[in-house]
Order: sequence, then structure tokens, then C-alpha cells
Amino acid sequence: MKIAICFFSGTGNTAYAAAQLSDHFTSLGHSVELCTMEQGDPVQASDADLLMLGGPIYAGNVPEAFIRWVLRKIPSAKPGARAALFSTSAGLLNANGIRSLAVKAVKKGYTVVGSFTFVMPRNFYFGSYAPMEPELIRDILKKTTREIGEAAALLCGEPQPEEISAKGILALDLTAELMSVMARFMGKQYSADENCIRCRKCEKNCPTGNIKLLQSKVQFGLSCMLCTRCIHGCPTHAIRYGKKLYPQYRINEITKWNLE
Ligand SMILES: Cc1cc2nc3c(=O)[nH]c(=O)nc-3n(C[C@H](O)[C@H](O)[C@H](O)COP(=O)(O)O)c2cc1C
Repeated sequence: MKIAICFFSGTGNTAYAAAQLSDHFTSLGHSVELCTMEQGDPVQASDADLLMLGGPIYAGNVPEAFIRWVLRKIPSAKPGARAALFSTSAGLLNANGIRSLAVKAVKKGYTVVGSFTFVMPRNFYFGSYAPMEPELIRDILKKTTREIGEAAALLCGEPQPEEISAKGILALDLTAELMSVMARFMGKQYSADENCIRCRKCEKNCPTGNIKLLQSKVQFGLSCMLCTRCIHGCPTHAIRYGKKLYPQYRINEITKWNLE
């Protein structure tokens, strides 16, 4: 089977789920194309027998930018093509993005055969949210890694079509829209402190091109999607939000932990 996994990942959690899915599919003899929103066109998605769409949950839905990309860039289904959706989030409450993505997939002619919500460690600590303790992170990652394997096995078996309802999706997508507007303004609260070494990593990695290194400072514009990649990816931990320094979240380091 030809499988296209198209996703957005701000800080690596969704990328981790996509890579795990890809490894499972490949080990079962299927061919996989991985494509991120930032890469642009999902070149082989039009040829896919199974399309997977995945993203992180922001305020209950996947980011509005990802929804827009799916609507614009994901080609219509070839005859018989199926789709499965996945999201990653810090909890299961209010994580409805897969329902929104399912409706988009159906509109494009796909038969939906799977919807998966993978709980991953939290990457967002603004407000009252605290970083998770290492033991909890380990437990979550172990459980979710197993669930991703089960999801891949299910999709390679004989998954049944799901009944998809568009009820409530407009309100859900309006929430994503509202979140994206709030993010633009909230993003103005980022700043780089004196530890900045002007390496331009944040500028290069920002998914919306919102960060510019100027002569005198790092400028944060008005197209932030609040993914927090700049904070967590900064090599000198120099990026603050509202003048406050938040602990960095590094999934690539966590996955090197012993998960046994
Ligand atoms: C702006 C923002 C909003 C978030 N909102 C939620 C939420 O409503 N519910 C939740 O469970 N997790 C929420 N999270 C946590 C992320 O969904 C979670 O950490 C996700 O796995 C991050 O994926 P990524 O690393 O691929 O970007 C939020 C994260 C961000 C950055």
C-alpha cells in the first residue's frame, strides 16, 4: 500500500508520532511518504491508498494554518483511497481536531478508516500550565508509543469505514480561527534576552517566518501561531514570553531515555 503521512508539528511531538507510524508501516512492507506543512506540496499524496493527516491540538482543534493547508494542498482522493487522522495533545479533554480533519478528508472524497488521539508530553506552559515531571513524561511516551504501533497495525489490517458527522465542526473551526488571531497578538510578547548569540536558528525554524534578526534585536512579527518552537529550540535558552523564561521541552532528547 502507498501511504502519505501529511502533518504539522511545532515542537516535534506530532513529528514523533508520524515517524513512528512510518517505521511501522515500512516494517510491514508498505511505502511511505512523509510530508510536513512547511514543505509545501504533498507530492505523492494524490497517489496514496492511505492518506494520514496529523497535527497538534491547540485549544481543542488542530491549528488553523494546518486546516487551511489541508483544504488547499491535499489532493482529492483517487478511487478507493482511504484516510486516517491523528492528533497529539497533552490530554484527551477537548482534543477534537481529528473530527475537523475527518470532515475535510470526506469532502475530498476519502473514506475515513481511523481517528487517533495520541497523548504526548505538554509543550505549552504559559498561564497556569506546569511542565510535566520526567516520570509522567516517561509513562506517557511508553503508552503512546505502544498505541501508535497498535494504530499502524489496525490500519494495515481491515479497518472499517467510520461514520463522519459535520455536526459542530463549524464552531470547532471558528475556535481554531479565533486561536490563530489570538496567537498573532500573543506572539508579540516573545523577546530574546542577553543570552542570544544571534545564531538565527529561531529565524530559520519559525514555521510562519515570523522572526527576523535585525541589527539591534530579534523582532517577532504578527504572524505567530504560538507553536513555541522558538522557545524550545533556542540553543542558549534566550527566548522569553512576556519577559518570563520557561523550561525548554525537547522531545528528541526525551526519546533517547530508556523507555523500558
Ligand atoms: C498554543 C498551544 C495550545 C495548546 N492547547 C492544547 C489543548 O487545548 N489541549 C491539549 O491537550 N494540549 C494543548 N497543547 C499541547 C500540545 O497539543 C501538545 O504538546 C502537542 O503534542 C504538541 O505537538 P507538536 O510538538 O507536534 O507541536 C497546546 C500547545 C500549544 C503550543
